[in-house]
Amino acid sequence: MNTSWSSLFRTKSPSAAVAEAARERRLRRVLGPLDLVALGIGATVGTGIFVLTGVAAARFAGPAVILSFVLAGSAAALTALVYAELASMVPVAGSAYTYAYVALGELVAWVIGWDLVLEYVVVGGAVAIGWGAYVVDLLTGIGVRLPAHLLRPPGEGGIVNLPPVLVVAALTGLLATGTRGSASVNRLVVGVKLTAMLFFVALGLFYVRPGHWTPFFPFGAAGVTRGAAIVFFAFIGFDAVSTAAEETRNPAHDIPAGIIGSLAAASVLYLGVAGVLTGMVAYRDLDTASPLTYALYRVGAGWAAPVVGAGAVAGLTSVLLVNIYGQSRVFYAMARDGLLPALFARVNPRTGAPTAVIVLTGLAVALVAAFLPLATVAELANIGTLSAFVLVSAGVVVLRHRRPELARPFRVPLVPFLPALAATAALYLMTRLPLLTWMRFGAWLAAGAPIYFLYGRRRSRLPRTG
Ligand code: ALA
Repeated sequence: MNTSWSSLFRTKSPSAAVAEAARERRLRRVLGPLDLVALGIGATVGTGIFVLTGVAAARFAGPAVILSFVLAGSAAALTALVYAELASMVPVAGSAYTYAYVALGELVAWVIGWDLVLEYVVVGGAVAIGWGAYVVDLLTGIGVRLPAHLLRPPGEGGIVNLPPVLVVAALTGLLATGTRGSASVNRLVVGVKLTAMLFFVALGLFYVRPGHWTPFFPFGAAGVTRGAAIVFFAFIGFDAVSTAAEETRNPAHDIPAGIIGSLAAASVLYLGVAGVLTGMVAYRDLDTASPLTYALYRVGAGWAAPVVGAGAVAGLTSVLLVNIYGQSRVFYAMARDGLLPALFARVNPRTGAPTAVIVLTGLAVALVAAFLPLATVAELANIGTLSAFVLVSAGVVVLRHRRPELARPFRVPLVPFLPALAATAALYLMTRLPLLTWMRFGAWLAAGAPIYFLYGRRRSRLPRTG
């Protein structure tokens, strides 16, 4: 009995995780620090800034949404340090799921893996919805009008939100043909979206009317923290850098640089865009899914909207692509460990891609995007990610205690203080999410429990007493 319960907390040794990854797949170490920063920006800068900034300003924070970004960014930065230490220590795919397996045991790893499923699928859904909103705007700009009931989910007066489904189908097909060469494509797309954002900030500055920043706190401090819990979404994605650990030339140095560098670059851009956007248009008017192009039309600079819109679409496409990809990698890692059916770890020898799991992920993302409203979707993604952050922060402290001898090329300063602060910040943001989101989250975890207890626990490839 004892052995059986202790098996819930069996851990994987970091060296075994690395050796197993090396045995299973021989990826080439081709990525350098700049590739990783580009990968991080590619995965991070998307719906959060291009879409949610408007909703967060209009409904929750007002012009003080810029402070919401500072708060959410600080929580993300603390956790980024934690990720940097773990990624430099256990440079294998699987990200938070693998770290938890090493530090906290199988049950917690399962919970994080199941959480990550929620994060990636739901993030994918949200990003696809944002993509659809921008494309529809661009089409409207050139006079093409689509039937309204095919552009909204049932909860918002439509039948189905079709454009996101189409892009998810296309990207799923693309991923199923293999993922080689994605780093250079990603660099190009990141270039386009960064240019669009810088262009928006530079142009928007000419249209800023400081009067729009008053009142700065229309919803008080509570609105700022509520806004932070929403725009936290904009910072999700740096963990994608850690999943590239097996393909990095010098992971000990480059992964921490990639994580911290991409987060820093994204944060600076976010502050610029949020400040300019709320200065261009009254915050009340920003309750739209494509606030940047909307603001440009409102100030009479509609000619620039297609440029910014195209940048946004490029940006959202890369985030979506990386999310579907990342999800398939988490499923893959869990299946490789025996916690999910072996079908999910099957790789098509011709394309080198795990086709079954990619198609399954695409279907799940498409369903979310087709039928759910954006705000609900973003909040669910946030609670999934934030809970993973709490557990990963705990993991770094536990590992320092249990395995002090292991090499840590990157070390979080001030342990346990900084990880504790990271966990507290993430927990605090979780408390700012609505009860309904917590209930949905609870339902998700409850749905995963039988899969682990009836399947994963018995099929795990770790020895029972391990
Ligand atoms: N951070 C990503 C985005 O904002 C998920 O789209």
